[in-house]
Formats: sequence, structure tokens, C-alpha cells
Amino acid sequence: MSQAISLTVNGCSYNLDIPPDTPLLNVLRNDLQLNGPKYGCGLGECGACSVLIDGMAARACVLPVSAAAQHEVLTLEGLGKNGRLDPVQQAFIECQAAQCGYCLNGMVINVRALLNHRSQPSPAQLRAALEYNLCRCGTHMEILEAANHAVAINAAESSEVSGE
Ligand code: FES
Repeated sequence: MSQAISLTVNGCSYNLDIPPDTPLLNVLRNDLQLNGPKYGCGLGECGACSVLIDGMAARACVLPVSAAAQHEVLTLEGLGKNGRLDPVQQAFIECQAAQCGYCLNGMVINVRALLNHRSQPSPAQLRAALEYNLCRCGTHMEILEAANHAVAINAAESSEVSGE
């Protein structure tokens, strides 16, 4: 049965009339036309559907939309600011880390989630953060290189903003 649900996604408010157990991923892709998050396994195992909820990575394919109400949802589309890509997006482009690209939403979102809480993660911490994100092309080395590059770009942009 449908229910009124208010959702905040990428800074925009939406009022939906929808069954509360609808997966957030379906709402993002089908109702809000936000196709950054991808449908991969649908079981919470591959990470392709990742989004940020209050800055933390979450798997939208197994998260009921009702659980996202009252929280800030950020998708790949909402990462950049003021016409600039997020440093993580920039790093993945500069490192040409995509093969087919299907997993990249999850890779980018999970690196961003880590950087939100730890500005200078070690290579081991980056590797651990991406441990449960699957890439069927086997592009893991390029992805890890991009993740490490993202740390450097993020640090440079942070010091730019703080005027250091
Ligand atoms: Fe959500 Fe695979 S599609 S984890």
C-alpha cells in the first residue's frame, strides 16, 4: 500500500506516494531519473547501487525508501559542487579507471564516503573500503590507483579552500 514519503536527494525535496518497502534504488532510477546508481546484483553484494546517506555509503538496492526519509541522500549526480567535479570523480577520469564503467558509481561513492570521515586514508584503508565492491572487468589496479589519486586531489582542494 502506498504511503506519503518525503525524500531529500542531492539537496532537492521530493514528496512521493509510494509503497514504503520500495527499494531506494528503484525510486532513484525510475521516479527521479537519477541513473548514476546502477542495478547490479540487487542483493547488496556488488556495490554498484551505492549512494551516500548522511555521508555514509549505503546500498540502495536493499534499502527501503522509507529508511532514507529524514536523511540526506546523495547520488553520483549530486557529488560535484559549483560546476566542478568531486575530487574523486576527477581522479577516476584522470586515471582512466573505467573499463565497462558499470561498477564505477559504487567505487566513487565508497571512496567519497571514506574521505568524508578520513581525509588521508592509507592505501590499505582504501583497499579495505573497496573490498566489497565488485568489478567484473578486473580493473582493480586502475581503480586503486584512481582512489589513491583521489586522496591527493582531495587534499589539494581542501588546502585551497582553507587557504593553506
Ligand atoms: Fe546493490 Fe549489487 S545492486 S549491491
